[in-house]
Amino acid sequence: MKIRNSALAGIAIAATAALGLTACGGSTTPAATGSASGSAGAVSGEITVYNAQHESLTQEWVDAFTAETGVKVTMRQGDDTEMSNQIIQEGQASPADVFLTENSPAMAQVENAGLFADVDQATVDQVPSQFRPSTNKWTGIAARSTVLVYDKSKISEDKLPKSMLDLAKPEWKGKWAASPSGADFQAIVAALLELKGETATQEWLKGMKDNYKSYKGNSTAMKAVNAGEVDAALIYHYYYYGDQAKTGENSKNVTPYYFKNQDPGAFLSVSGGGVLKTSKNAAAAQAFLKFITGKKGQEVLKNGTSFEYAIASDVASNEKLVPIKELQAPTVDPAKLNSQKVTELMNAAGLL
Ligand SMILES: [Fe+2]
Repeated sequence: MKIRNSALAGIAIAATAALGLTACGGSTTPAATGSASGSAGAVSGEITVYNAQHESLTQEWVDAFTAETGVKVTMRQGDDTEMSNQIIQEGQASPADVFLTENSPAMAQVENAGLFADVDQATVDQVPSQFRPSTNKWTGIAARSTVLVYDKSKISEDKLPKSMLDLAKPEWKGKWAASPSGADFQAIVAALLELKGETATQEWLKGMKDNYKSYKGNSTAMKAVNAGEVDAALIYHYYYYGDQAKTGENSKNVTPYYFKNQDPGAFLSVSGGGVLKTSKNAAAAQAFLKFITGKKGQEVLKNGTSFEYAIASDVASNEKLVPIKELQAPTVDPAKLNSQKVTELMNAAGLL
């Protein structure tokens, strides 16, 4: 079966190379496709992906990668820190070849435990530096923007907060929702901590505790705004666009508001991918990472239903989204996001 797979993979490379060559006359960038699939085609066997990204998105990546290379991929699903803790606990015995997350803090945690191999240079080369840690122990694979979704009938435009920090002020008491137990929200707090320091973060969390309404999950928080239970919710952008692309029934009374202006509330969270040092099929694991950050992998973000931002290989994001450049996100090194400190601070504030 192994021989058959690599034979098929060989055919796949030849076919892709031929397509790359014939496409050279076009206005697209066939070189990226050729190089992304070039080394991916030389691999075989199986890999196991510990996946904390949305399952449907990773499944699309996996199906396309397997179709191109013949490599069989087994996915294990969990939350960001649930999976990072499991990898650390398993240590040398971990069956994981690749780890994918929704947000950076769990990647930084595994990096700090010394468990990641260096990312292949060819992969690093196709990801702009702002979307990967300076260490190159893992890489960004997609991105998501913080957004305040709100009910226009309750909040007029001139009353919108200038900064996410304003949500801790008394006038916002009882008016906004969040899902503090989720990795998405905790990444926003990690960015706040990195940008403004511990004292400011503690104060903001204290104000949040007084003001916010707790929901489990970003979709649930958005639904609450839509249903008129609460005026606004601090979530990620794709929950809104995903619902709009379906029936819109959970977002029809909701408008997204972007803080911009390098505000902590304009934080663009980088989803990560890394190869474990202990991988028994490092070539295929590295090829998978190269594939998802390559042209075909990034086009899954552009054309699929995840509505997350494409960040690599010069692939534009879905045209329904506010372009990344217009988000005016603050600069944050994703390797510096500290999930442990965030959990401590949120616990101390009574939010977890
Ligand atoms: Fe999410």
